[in-house]
Amino acid sequence: MRDPDSELDQLKEQHLLRTLDQGSARHSRQSISPQDSSLDFSSNDYLGLAGKSEIKSAAVRAIEKFGVGSKASRLLRGGSPLHKEVETHTANFLGTEAALFFANGYTAAVGTLTALLKKGDTVILDKRCHACLIDGARLSGATIRIFPHNNLAKLEKLLLSSREKATNDSRLLIITEAVFSMDGDTSPLLDIIKLKTRSGALLLVDEAHSLGVLGPGGRGLSHHIGESQSVDFRIATFGKAVGSAGGVVAASSKWIELILNKARSFIYSTAPPHAQAAAALAGLEIIESSEGDQLRNLLVENTRLLCQRLAIHKPAAAILPLIFGEETSALEASDYLQKNGIIVPAIRYPTVARGMARLRISLSAAHSRDNIINLADQLERLLDTGKFTLAPSP
Ligand SMILES: Cc1ncc(COP(=O)(O)O)c(C=O)c1O
Repeated sequence: MRDPDSELDQLKEQHLLRTLDQGSARHSRQSISPQDSSLDFSSNDYLGLAGKSEIKSAAVRAIEKFGVGSKASRLLRGGSPLHKEVETHTANFLGTEAALFFANGYTAAVGTLTALLKKGDTVILDKRCHACLIDGARLSGATIRIFPHNNLAKLEKLLLSSREKATNDSRLLIITEAVFSMDGDTSPLLDIIKLKTRSGALLLVDEAHSLGVLGPGGRGLSHHIGESQSVDFRIATFGKAVGSAGGVVAASSKWIELILNKARSFIYSTAPPHAQAAAALAGLEIIESSEGDQLRNLLVENTRLLCQRLAIHKPAAAILPLIFGEETSALEASDYLQKNGIIVPAIRYPTVARGMARLRISLSAAHSRDNIINLADQLERLLDTGKFTLAPSP
């Protein structure tokens, strides 16, 4: 039988072993307490909402009113009116007929894809799609086709060949992300929508890193390009810019009814805690308010400042990869920064392709101008050591 030691040794040899040390170190350092995330460039709390008093109080009020646990699955009367409110609020916010609230974005993706697809269907994904989309596609039993990152010509070819094989009964689904989680770039959504319309395929967009960050009122990339109605399914998480936790799929009422009836990660799982629902609602309210606009402006200013200092192109959202290539280089760079009081995680295979290890800088409206300057200074010093060379951005 395969023993765990040999697998762990193999991961260690390849510099791919993960530990929780990085996270716990963050909480043990005096200068980087859980309350002070100002030197933390690893979090996806893009607007700095996770620690906001309005969000904390909403969670506390929900616990006082409904208790901590949600007691049962939604279909067995688990949850509270707050869960329903998250769904109607999200649907109104995103301009869809309906939405369904899951415990997190991962289970929202897996549940949605396994509900929509089965053997005989075809799903076409961008090569850099998040693990939850790949896992959902695999679990569904549909035929999987992959197009190179943002490569429209290849997507078009795959659509043509898949359509030829399609039957009246089968589904053809394109999946992409609005903002790619490890590269920070956006998908060419307008062109993908043109291809989708021409081929009659369905389109699912993961707005995990764009919700709250891009588009009018933080409604995401689909709204930003004025095409939200052309996207059949939008998946998002409340665990990033919204400052809470949970996942959601937004679509027409018919699709949501089908997902509700078939998504096993929804049906066979206890409803998310009431506090999580209340915090998500409070987060969404801030995101769509004028305060949300101000926070988005701060985020843009922070991103612009860092990019100016590093003389690199400003990304559309708040994720900046610095690609070192070798896993050891990215790990050493991350350690160097941590020793200087700055947390920037090293991202390695299999999260990114082999030989594409990187530092992933995640910016927030909660960072001060001084924090950004400090980060830029430390990154310049890091590169001045001559030990690290950056690969060109993909
Ligand atoms: C693109 C993308 N989709 C989905 C998810 C999953 O969301 P959650 O963390 O709520 O499970 C993530 C989170 O890392 C993500 O980056």
